[in-house]
Amino acid sequence: MLSTLVNRLAPSATLAMSQKSAELKAQGVDVINLSVGEPDFNTPDHIKEAAKKAVDDNFSRYSPVPGYPALRKAIVEKLKNENGLDYAPVQIVCSNGAKQCVCNAVMALVSPGEEVIIPAPYWVSYPQMVLMADGKPVFVEAPIEQDFKITPEQLEAAITPKTKALILCSPSNPTGSVYSAAELEALATVLRRHPQVWVISDEIYEHINYVGAHASIAACPEMYDRTIVINGVSKAYAMTGWRIGFLAAPLALSKACSKLQGQYTSGPCSVSQVAATEAFAGPQDCVETMRQAFARRKDLIVKLAKEVPGFEVNDPHGAFYLFPKCSFYFGKSDGERVIKDSMDFALFLLEVAHVATVGGDAFGSPECFRMSYATSDENIVEALRRIKEAVARLK
Ligand SMILES: Cc1ncc(COP(=O)(O)O)c(C=O)c1O
Repeated sequence: MLSTLVNRLAPSATLAMSQKSAELKAQGVDVINLSVGEPDFNTPDHIKEAAKKAVDDNFSRYSPVPGYPALRKAIVEKLKNENGLDYAPVQIVCSNGAKQCVCNAVMALVSPGEEVIIPAPYWVSYPQMVLMADGKPVFVEAPIEQDFKITPEQLEAAITPKTKALILCSPSNPTGSVYSAAELEALATVLRRHPQVWVISDEIYEHINYVGAHASIAACPEMYDRTIVINGVSKAYAMTGWRIGFLAAPLALSKACSKLQGQYTSGPCSVSQVAATEAFAGPQDCVETMRQAFARRKDLIVKLAKEVPGFEVNDPHGAFYLFPKCSFYFGKSDGERVIKDSMDFALFLLEVAHVATVGGDAFGSPECFRMSYATSDENIVEALRRIKEAVARLK
């Protein structure tokens, strides 16, 4: 009865884990949730005030499909001042979160049968979006030994005449890895030899960066004309529920995305757009305050995870996730169940340690699992204590 499109899609594993943990919580179990992908902070007050005023000022009608001119102007300024990138407002399309922007970009670029290179581990939605476009995801493995980043040689080897795009995510969900400007330039050197390949550059975690210098591949020579930069307010400004993201692209692409969006969602929420304008144009100290909290928690969780026997841990330079390798425990048992893979491992942690995480299978990396540290220091300490105690039972 259902369409081939829907039947082809996988359900969201991150949402499945959240649901299981909610069920346990409803039974009265004290679950620590490290499975969520959003800041635990509230939206800063000055942004909320702007939204309240927008309601009173009757921002209640349809906006232009790509967003209000004031928002796109604020984004143009942000891209110029923070990223050194020059765009005109017509090159910006605002959507219902960066998620819709990635989907717009994929739909606007990929024709049936065309290949899209996706470094693994990847954000769960990328391959599914490529499948929606009838494209073919091509995975390039970037294990923990290479800090979860692909090399120029791997990229070169993955490109075929059918390659249409590469999806890059830096800082990365789920690994926290960050490509430096030099690493991006090395990838760009390969891409310059293959002018048909576009880059969809997901920079939604730009501001949650512990090395200080965010780099966009759009700034590498000759890359601007075939890069789609994606960003938004969800992570930097703790605004996941407001649903505002943007893409910045060469004119033909921004026009195409606007055309697509005009047919299936129109412009995003009017009040949220005013709030996002304030986020980009208003005071920025809230971003730094939250970044510092994430940096402290990152140091804490890395230290504690390194103390768990059998875990291999990298030192993530951005985002708010840790992606330890846990395959040491595969084949081991607590007497009741055998841990076969990272899904089993995450389920074991939920049921025995009462800590919700996400198995790496969902991210194309079955040897690892993801913990979000967008939670309090106390929760991090207690969660890692419970995990250490639980894995000690696995023999
Ligand atoms: C890598 C990545 N891209 C995009 C998004 C979507 O963000 P938004 O809330 O703006 O849709 C997320 C959210 O988890 C993400 O992790």
